[in-house]
Amino acid sequence: MKKVSILGFAGSLRKGSYNRAILRAATELLPANATLDIYDLEGLPLFNQDLEGQPTQKVREFKAKIKAADAILIATPEYNYSIPGVLKNAIDVASRPYPENAFAGKPVAIMGASIGMLGSARAQYHLRQSFIFLDVQTLNSPEVMVAHAGEKVGADGRYNDPKGRELIAELIGNLVELALKMRGEKEAAKAA
Ligand code: FNR
Repeated sequence: MKKVSILGFAGSLRKGSYNRAILRAATELLPANATLDIYDLEGLPLFNQDLEGQPTQKVREFKAKIKAADAILIATPEYNYSIPGVLKNAIDVASRPYPENAFAGKPVAIMGASIGMLGSARAQYHLRQSFIFLDVQTLNSPEVMVAHAGEKVGADGRYNDPKGRELIAELIGNLVELALKMRGEKEAAKAA
């Protein structure tokens, strides 16, 4: 059976980003029937509705990658109790022009890391709110909120917390299961 392809991106452009670190951990925790391609949001232009009909190469590439993937995995930092502008902008860019929402029909899993004690919880709930508007199915469980991330990511950039790694593995397992279920439903609808 064709593997479930996951596209992952982090809402941080920082080289030493803890959110990039948990995404890298995810690549090591995949089930055998899934692949994870990490995409860098660096270079996405700020969304300007006047220009949405003339997307740049980077925008076209980002939207094509989302559309080609079976599922999406997002790692969000928390900035000022919400999601970073970089991530919100990426979602806005990929959701336009209406009705060409690249996320349509994709299951989405959310996780996040912050140096604070809530592990990006507030940002993650804001992120879920955007996906309500986009009519996208987000996984509810498990919640992966990596608190005090600076103590859990080594100088080598590896996310080391065994419990946190287990949660990430569980999240991806659930994402793959949901993607397969949605694939089955689409194929059944086509055959009907
Ligand atoms: C932060 N940080 C932060 N942390 C948090 O837990 N709650 C918050 O509201 C904020 N707000 C905030 C605003 C801005 C502008 C910055 C730059 C940072 C700290 C944040 O958790 C920390 O910088 C993380 O390292 C960001 O994630 P990455 O870049 O490591 O993935």
